[in-house]
Amino acid sequence: MTEDPTVTYQGPERVLSGVQPSGDLHLGNYLGALKKFVDLQHRYETFIFVADLHAITVWQDPKLLAAQTREIAAAYLASGLDPQKAAIFPQSAVTAHAELAWIFNCVARLGWLDRMTQFKDKAGKHKERASVGLYTYPVLQAADILVYKATHVPVGEDQKQHLELTRDIAGKFNHDFDAPGFFPLTEPLIQGPGARIMSLRDGQAKMSKSDPSEQSRINLLDDADAIAQKIRRAKTDPEPLPEAVEGLAGRPEADNLVGIYGALANRTKAEVLADFGGKGFGVFKPALADVAVEVLVPIGQRMRQLLTDPAELDRILESGADRARAVADPVIAETKRIVGFWGA
Ligand code: TYM
Repeated sequence: MTEDPTVTYQGPERVLSGVQPSGDLHLGNYLGALKKFVDLQHRYETFIFVADLHAITVWQDPKLLAAQTREIAAAYLASGLDPQKAAIFPQSAVTAHAELAWIFNCVARLGWLDRMTQFKDKAGKHKERASVGLYTYPVLQAADILVYKATHVPVGEDQKQHLELTRDIAGKFNHDFDAPGFFPLTEPLIQGPGARIMSLRDGQAKMSKSDPSEQSRINLLDDADAIAQKIRRAKTDPEPLPEAVEGLAGRPEADNLVGIYGALANRTKAEVLADFGGKGFGVFKPALADVAVEVLVPIGQRMRQLLTDPAELDRILESGADRARAVADPVIAETKRIVGFWGA
């Protein structure tokens, strides 16, 4: 059951998103998420966190986790997030996320979670050995979003199902507790050529941190030689590039490389093909490598520089957490009152 759709959320518009500190960030994370955060911070009140609670749904070395968290913060800043505009913080520093997640565990239905494809992919064949946290992971994600009453969430396409679940949870909470419009029905911001970047080795597989092949992805910390070499070796087909976008159908690797060029150069695939249609990959790949190096190498350099001063990164994370708590704490307090908890 969902809420009455005629009663809509009236609060301010807010953007929220996060990235897990569990492995090197790659081009898919940058184009699907970080680049969008940077654009949105100028238009909305923006909350961008490091999803360390989500990271521990699979084993993380306690000796490395805090450093991995700083590394994501450095990637945010190096990509252009401004800590004066966006609140940048570790998820675990704002306890309201976990509190709301528990309440939502009691709102979400088992059947809803059973349909989540990412759990099936991540748990693999041995589902009974996966952590319970991995299973309820999308419920925590809904809490991350709704504890700020975020109205817009920029993510890559792989998060679409989790965003749909977030809307279902918001609607059911509002309905069950007779609190129409309390939580917004959040809009995912997924569109654009960067929403689904595929592996450089297989145009049918998503570019992913967990792919065993380093050649499948470009990492944000790769240097110019590594970037150019990975693009040179990227899988392609023998045909020249088509003149029009329709000609990319059935050519997943060509489609992916044209999409990456477009996303990096802020151009549509049609515009890229207007320049490169009829040309072979011998011409296109070096041009793509040039654009990728131009965009990514300065980000990697800035990240390295930021990581030399962990105390400054910690100051940014602490002040971001203060700003996040100032919004999240009243929302969790009000939620507890709505649920009827003692003393709330
Ligand atoms: P994570 O850490 O797996 O990925 C971070 C962001 O990168 C996007 N992404 C991609 N986009 C395009 N092409 C790809 N190949 C690609 N691979 C990854 C993801 O879609 C994501 O936007 N569950 C989230 C983290 C999270 C979150 C949230 C996000 C936790 N709570 C609340 C938004 C709102 C995750 O694991 O992302």
